[in-house]
Amino acid sequence: MNPLRTIPTLHCGDFTLRAVDPTKDIDSLTKNINDSHIADRVTNVPNPYTVQDAQYWMVHLDGVARHAAGNNGIWLRMDFAIDVAGEYAGSVAFIEIKGNSAQLSYWLGSRFHGKGIMPRAVERVLDFAFDECGFDHIWAEVATDNVASRRVLQKCGFFLQVDAHPSKWKRKDGTIRDAETYVYQPDLRSLTTR
Ligand SMILES: CC(C)(COP(=O)(O)OP(=O)(O)OC[C@H]1O[C@@H](n2cnc3c(N)ncnc32)[C@H](O)[C@@H]1OP(=O)(O)O)[C@@H](O)C(=O)NCCC(=O)NCCS
Repeated sequence: MNPLRTIPTLHCGDFTLRAVDPTKDIDSLTKNINDSHIADRVTNVPNPYTVQDAQYWMVHLDGVARHAAGNNGIWLRMDFAIDVAGEYAGSVAFIEIKGNSAQLSYWLGSRFHGKGIMPRAVERVLDFAFDECGFDHIWAEVATDNVASRRVLQKCGFFLQVDAHPSKWKRKDGTIRDAETYVYQPDLRSLTTR
């Protein structure tokens, strides 16, 4: 990836994508992510989710930013808060950054579902990733039964990687679900259904 000093603010009309702010985000993060629906579908999200979990997460992200500053602006992961009217309503992130490749991860508080927020957030960070970060390979892994998330990926120009090894998603209750790998195909984005 290209060196990047800070996480920028990206405007998406009625919401913004911005760096997490430990001075104001703890309460709304805790409120919106404290949901078993999210914890069942996103790796490493505790449930119940407490203020202490949010504080721990802010310290972790601060460590990520410090590491990037000491690593010539090369980030291990990049997390954007989805800011709706000042609230930390959700997250979209590039995780597992390796060279010009990254995995996409996201969640949105249930009060904000069904308004097309996540497809717009994903499209905005994809433009940022390709145009400004120099990424050329973005992928996502989703449980096969996560219909809403698969739909977000399809709307944004991701296609099922048919030759990927079948993968499994281990839920926190120990049950195993099938998972699928999707890869972003910028050249084919106009073919996807909105
Ligand atoms: C996935 C998620 C981010 C979607 O965000 P969103 O902003 O609500 O997305 P949208 O408003 O575009 O709605 C999702 C799409 O899935 C569809 N959808 C939702 N639930 C569905 C279901 N059970 N069956 C069929 N379609 C469904 C919606 O109709 C919509 O498609 P449409 O625009 O063609 O009508 C949100 O549901 C979420 O945070 N889920 C929990 C965390 C998660 O799953 N993260 C991803 C892990 S891979």
